[in-house]
Amino acid sequence: MKTILLASFSIVLFIYLHINTVYGQYGHFFGGSLSYVIEDDGNGTKTITVSLITGWVLGKGPCWTGCNKDYIGRSTIPSRQLALTSDNSYLGNVSIDYHTDEVDTQIIQIEELNPTPIVERVIDVSENAEYEQEIQTFSFLMPDFANIFDINYDGSSWRNLTLQGGADRRWHFQTRVSTYVRNDTSGTNRCPQSISRPFYRIKLDEMGIIRIPVIDADGDFIKCRQSDFVEAGDLYTYRPPNVTIYQNCTVSIDATRMNDYEDDTWIAIPVSVGDYPRKPVMYGPDLLMNSKYAMCITSQQFVVQVLENLTTPEFVDPTLEGNHEFIMYADTTWRTEIYALPSENTTIESFTAFGIKQENLTFSPLLDDPKRERVMHATMSWRPYEKDLGRHIACVQATDNTGYIDVDKVTAVGL
Ligand SMILES: *[C@@H]1O[C@H](CO)[C@@H](O)[C@H](O)[C@H]1NC(C)=O
Ligand SMILES: *[C@@H]1O[C@H](CO)[C@@H](O)[C@H](O)[C@H]1NC(C)=O
Ligand SMILES: *[C@@H]1O[C@H](CO)[C@@H](O)[C@H](O)[C@H]1NC(C)=O
Ligand SMILES: *[C@@H]1O[C@H](CO)[C@@H](O)[C@H](O)[C@H]1NC(C)=O
Ligand SMILES: *[C@@H]1O[C@H](CO)[C@@H](O)[C@H](O)[C@H]1NC(C)=O
Ligand SMILES: *[C@@H]1O[C@H](CO)[C@@H](O)[C@H](O)[C@H]1NC(C)=O
Ligand SMILES: *[C@@H]1O[C@H](CO)[C@@H](O)[C@H](O)[C@H]1NC(C)=O
Ligand SMILES: *[C@@H]1O[C@H](CO)[C@@H](O)[C@H](O)[C@H]1NC(C)=O
Ligand SMILES: *[C@@H]1O[C@H](CO)[C@@H](O)[C@H](O)[C@H]1NC(C)=O
Repeated sequence: MKTILLASFSIVLFIYLHINTVYGQYGHFFGGSLSYVIEDDGNGTKTITVSLITGWVLGKGPCWTGCNKDYIGRSTIPSRQLALTSDNSYLGNVSIDYHTDEVDTQIIQIEELNPTPIVERVIDVSENAEYEQEIQTFSFLMPDFANIFDINYDGSSWRNLTLQGGADRRWHFQTRVSTYVRNDTSGTNRCPQSISRPFYRIKLDEMGIIRIPVIDADGDFIKCRQSDFVEAGDLYTYRPPNVTIYQNCTVSIDATRMNDYEDDTWIAIPVSVGDYPRKPVMYGPDLLMNSKYAMCITSQQFVVQVLENLTTPEFVDPTLEGNHEFIMYADTTWRTEIYALPSENTTIESFTAFGIKQENLTFSPLLDDPKRERVMHATMSWRPYEKDLGRHIACVQATDNTGYIDVDKVTAVGL
């Protein structure tokens, strides 16, 4: 009998367009996302495993000087040390904070909780768009002094945010850990997970649309909103102008000159992703009736560059689009066709894909579409096994022969 993977597979498609970007002396951070998994060790302790996806100006993140496409998949352990040589908090730092009836808010640096060493690898590099993206994980035992606490990731500075006060804005990400048990799953709550590009590009004087793929292992209802107050760090004081974040995790940016956007404007957007029960549940001592209170909120923050001339290659039919859900089976190869049309005078050179759980996504060789000039297509496939049970997200990107990039076209497909 085949095992059904209870999986929602979101595939995000991106195409890239080459633009030379000159970076100033400051601002190396492009955003990312923070999430965790809590597991019962079966001996009275719980282990919390944190995943942190971060994007950086190429050569200024953990991949460091000399970083190029060949580093994709590699560990950053040696280079991360180099990046930290002159400033130990250059790549940000992780802390937890909690309070109890007896004590006011206490902040503890993660190092004090004896975490496992960071495991970090490069998941994406674009030499033309000058970014690198990494995923890091580490674990620590649930401390015995608090049953609920926040995990924080802080640092400075964001890439120069032209409409949000410039180059030295600090970043702050947070998510809440709770040992509360839900009566419907008899386990702790599993937080939503999301993934984004290191940065997106949209066209000046158009409504820019970015869809954030989100998944929730408990199958809860997911809602997005703009992060508020302390959740957003400096981006609360310096809000991105004319940005709307819909509950369904679609972000729209009214990037018009009237709204002070111009060519090469950069903004950062903080998104909070919450999971809400679909039916009433007892969550620890709390009865949650509806979608008013999130059980967990995770953060996802990213940078958007606005350009006057953005000629975008496009994913085209019959590439699946928008929150499509697939059911996959263990030990059975899953396939989907990806089609892309390059912009004028260019050709599609490659498709690449990555997931956050090391899914082995592969592409067949590129083929011409017999029916449409210049359109190229390939089959993306993955053979999941029983160990892969769960929900997955993957990013698909198409690159043309000039290395042209467009990060705007985002399509979610499910499984
Ligand atoms: C940040 O960008 C603005 C607008 O492009 C520019 O005027 C300013 O000099 C930049 N700041 C730094 C520190 O690079
Ligand atoms: C319980 O198991 C975890 C994971 O194997 C281990 O790290 C931890 O030290 C154990 N705790 C106790 C109290 O033995
Ligand atoms: C953590 O990062 C923040 C922001 O960069 C910084 O202000 C703080 O001093 C850092 N803390 C430690 C212990 O490094
Ligand atoms: C969980 O608690 C809610 C509220 O009391 C109740 O409606 C629901 O049936 C319970 N679910 C289970 C699986 O016991
Ligand atoms: C854009 O944002 C600015 C500043 O928040 C606001 O004054 C303006 O009305 C907004 N424009 C539109 C078209 O909503
Ligand atoms: C999300 O909601 C907005 C506003 O209701 C809507 O315009 C948009 O089409 C929705 N997006 C998706 C992918 O359903
Ligand atoms: C965009 O293209 C137009 C028409 O080719 C040109 O006049 C303009 O200078 C370009 N803008 C930029 C910022 O390159
Ligand atoms: C494409 O190439 C043709 C012929 O060289 C040229 O006339 C046209 O302007 C080019 N288009 C773009 C967008 O560069
Ligand atoms: C990934 O899948 C391809 C094709 O199915 C296979 O050849 C390759 O060995 C796999 N790699 C890993 C690391 O599993």
